[in-house]
Amino acid sequence: MGPFFRIVGGEQALGKTVQFNRRTCRGRKWFVIFASFLISTHFLVGTASCEVQRAEADEMRAHCEICHDRGMIFQQRLTPAQWLAEVKKMEKWGAAVPADQEKSLVDYLSGQFKAGSVPMAAREASSVTLLDSVKPLADPARFHGDARAGQGVFTDACGECHGPDARGKQGPNLVQQPILYRFNDFQEIVMRGRRTMPAFSGVLDRKQLENLVAWLRTQQIH
Ligand code: HEC
Ligand code: HEC
Repeated sequence: MGPFFRIVGGEQALGKTVQFNRRTCRGRKWFVIFASFLISTHFLVGTASCEVQRAEADEMRAHCEICHDRGMIFQQRLTPAQWLAEVKKMEKWGAAVPADQEKSLVDYLSGQFKAGSVPMAAREASSVTLLDSVKPLADPARFHGDARAGQGVFTDACGECHGPDARGKQGPNLVQQPILYRFNDFQEIVMRGRRTMPAFSGVLDRKQLENLVAWLRTQQIH
């Protein structure tokens, strides 16, 4: 669930809503443990509804974040009828929402981004913050990338999407990108995946990531 709750880009307002919900869910779990001798169905139902909410958040990720940024969804404040119309419209665009998940998805969207709730906060960032987000960071201690080995890893795992020479295909160009000099950020994206990019945790190890970065750094756009 990590990436979903992370506060990114212009999504601060949503980050807050969802984090609040998550806290409520956690609180309920502890309550259930504390009050277990009471065997209160109320709390049990509460915990179950948190699980349902998580499942719905997953549905939204799976069905709605394929074509566009989640910000497109998070900034809306719609009534249930409007959300239903929106989801139907997206289905016409090609969103493959299984019929039996449509209602729960609409309920979820209507609950999270409801008409009349606080508007999404505008992204506020000074130029210093923006520069900070792309400035090169020192490599972690014991960084030993081997570019030659990295090329092989790239061809096997990444080239199909990012292009054989990493100049971009359905995945973006990776050559001469600031992220190559921010190893921890690079590692996070590759290990966790992002939208249509799959996660490589359990597939690639740290050494292979270092090799990948070392090779990518040797590439230049002429
Ligand atoms: C197959 C690609 C695709 C998928 C999947 C998709 N959308 Fe969209 N979405 C679009 C396009 C294209 C637009 C721009 C539509 C326009 O300009 O009228 C858009 C626009 C939107 C908008 C902005 C309002 C609007 O109608 O223009 C919202 C909100 C939205 N989508 C929500 C969703 C939700 C919720 C889902 C999941 C059920 C979803 N989208 C899945 C393609 C998609
Ligand atoms: C199935 C296709 C696919 C594969 C395989 C894939 N990627 Fe991606 N990658 C993408 C897409 C699409 C994006 C853009 C994600 C987004 O929507 O932000 C992306 C984004 C990235 C980014 C972020 C770029 C930036 O500047 O924000 C990095 C870094 C990256 N990929 C590295 C890799 C590496 C390294 C591999 C191989 C281990 C890999 N990718 C494999 C499709 C893929």
